[in-house]
Amino acid sequence: MKEVKLKINGKDVVATEGMTILEAARKAGFRIPTLCYHDGLTPHGGCRLCVVEVKGSPRLLTSCTTPVADGMEVYTDTDRVKEARKFVMNLIMTERNHFCMFCEKSGKYEDTDCELQKRAYEVQIEHFPFPVYVDKYPVDTSSPVMVTDHNRCILCGRCVRVCSEIVANSTLDFSFRGSKALIAVDTGLSKGKSSCISCGACMQVCPAGAIFSKFGGYKSRRSLCERIETFCPICGIGCETTNYVRYNNIVEIEGNGLVKGSLDGGQLCEKGRYGPLMESRNRISTPLLRDSKGRFVEATYEEALNRVVQLLKAYSPDQIAFRTSSFLPAEDLAYIKEFASRIGVKDIDTFDGNVYRNLSSFKLSKGTYEDVLNADLILLIGGDIVKEHSVVGSYIRRAVRNRGAELVVISSIESKIDRWAKEVRRVAEGSEGSLANDYKNKIKSMSNSIIVLEGASLLSNKEAIEPWLKLAEELNVKVMILTPTGNSLAAWELGISPDLADSAGKSKKLLFLFLGDIDSSYSPASIAEKGYETIVLHSAYIDAIMKLSDVVIPGKSWLENEGTYKVMDGKARRFSPILKAEKGVKSPRELLSDLADAMRLGSISIDDIVRKL
Ligand code: SF4
Ligand code: SF4
Ligand code: SF4
Ligand code: FES
Repeated sequence: MKEVKLKINGKDVVATEGMTILEAARKAGFRIPTLCYHDGLTPHGGCRLCVVEVKGSPRLLTSCTTPVADGMEVYTDTDRVKEARKFVMNLIMTERNHFCMFCEKSGKYEDTDCELQKRAYEVQIEHFPFPVYVDKYPVDTSSPVMVTDHNRCILCGRCVRVCSEIVANSTLDFSFRGSKALIAVDTGLSKGKSSCISCGACMQVCPAGAIFSKFGGYKSRRSLCERIETFCPICGIGCETTNYVRYNNIVEIEGNGLVKGSLDGGQLCEKGRYGPLMESRNRISTPLLRDSKGRFVEATYEEALNRVVQLLKAYSPDQIAFRTSSFLPAEDLAYIKEFASRIGVKDIDTFDGNVYRNLSSFKLSKGTYEDVLNADLILLIGGDIVKEHSVVGSYIRRAVRNRGAELVVISSIESKIDRWAKEVRRVAEGSEGSLANDYKNKIKSMSNSIIVLEGASLLSNKEAIEPWLKLAEELNVKVMILTPTGNSLAAWELGISPDLADSAGKSKKLLFLFLGDIDSSYSPASIAEKGYETIVLHSAYIDAIMKLSDVVIPGKSWLENEGTYKVMDGKARRFSPILKAEKGVKSPRELLSDLADAMRLGSISIDDIVRKL
């Protein structure tokens, strides 16, 4: 790229063609305050806080939108610039209700969660010199997850841009003009009734107190929180997150990396951003044992361990089955597998264990976000991507909107993605495979196609999935597999799969169930159907299956359990726990390690196994 030489505050600076003054100044170490600008979005030039003086220009110029030019002389901090910024900030602060004392985001100096307030301190606003315009604007509380208070809105347009450019949902826009201007939702709906998919990206980029969470609001300022960077393991995509935690409670979750040029940065779905904050299930707080009259009695951890040892010895290995959530970290999955094999149990599986079983015999070429963005044809087969893998949905919408990609949806259920499709084929669940051959010629006629396969019911159904996999293999089409739970791939690679020869025709009597947080493919009814005599349950939450269990041992939730996940890109990543577990609450590997000691099985090491993932 061509070099551009300019001077900023008298210093020689070398930038590249196409850079803005703001970018060049930042690169050279000069600070320019901004408000409507956001690193991950197209500059808008609306607020004018970032103005600078450029020699030869009679007007001050917005640095976020003005490109650098050879020989330019820029001044970022003159009295004229400072006055102008202060004036702009005074207008913004008095245009609507910015009585910070009553605002959710308010704080002092760097302590505030409000960028607007921070910038006001930065340009030294101490009082309002103009009369404050306090017309009443609506407050929209209809969204299940966030509040939009138009009284605090500074019309910076960040929310509009993120919803359009990144989420590609285009729910938001400006409406009316002047002092009546508002951020409109689908041209006049409330957020709760609109096309909004509750991803919260608009809330994340809002620099003022105009959009805030219904769950984290009023709990704590960020500066008082512990900040934990990790990723979300819920659905297997693995979006990067920053978690704000106070008193062992999550206050807020943000998507990381919403910066220019980042392919997968910043986004989260409703489950990832709000799920842990919405959690309302009760925890299992103490071990429980069923007594001779069939009632649960509280027990110590040691008493529960002894009961489990007795049960494991009372049944022969071929009468015992282990079932686990594939939402558990690889360390737990590996330990369950090793422990089971140490006591001779061969029937070990996950609730969604057959997802990869159906895929493993095919040589598939893995699709990435980039492949979705570059596709001419996207065949989306399966469940509701907006509900289950909403972040991938945004890439599909971007491909449709930006490049005119053709989207075909083949699914048994309606989805908010349907309105973006050229063709929607509504089929009975399980019969998706019957349509695969209809698209053979179409795929051949396109230069870049991708098949996106989504959800447990599709992926675990051999007849539904195989025709698509055969087609993908034959035509060498990229395939994106969206599994229902975070660690399905690791579970499969660790060999969590029953020895079918061992299981054939044999009814199991003792079930050892590791529920973790309970994954989406878990059904208490289907477990009850199997008619086990005895169930040992290790789980974080109170759930219907407890009624059928004989021993219940409290477990860690995923938020408390460190470990490895193998996410959509095939990379193994280490999850850092966000919350601390109550004393005595164990992960499956901790519980099984205690059991191995009690049964004198010798030490079980899983480090090498997990390292190979
Ligand atoms: S949005 Fe920011 S500037 Fe406005 S009232 Fe709230 S804290 Fe103050
Ligand atoms: S929550 Fe997401 S979809 Fe809804 S308006 Fe905000 S950015 Fe758009
Ligand atoms: S709601 Fe927030 S992000 Fe959207 S225009 Fe208003 S202040 Fe900016
Ligand atoms: S930050 Fe440049 S105009 Fe708003």
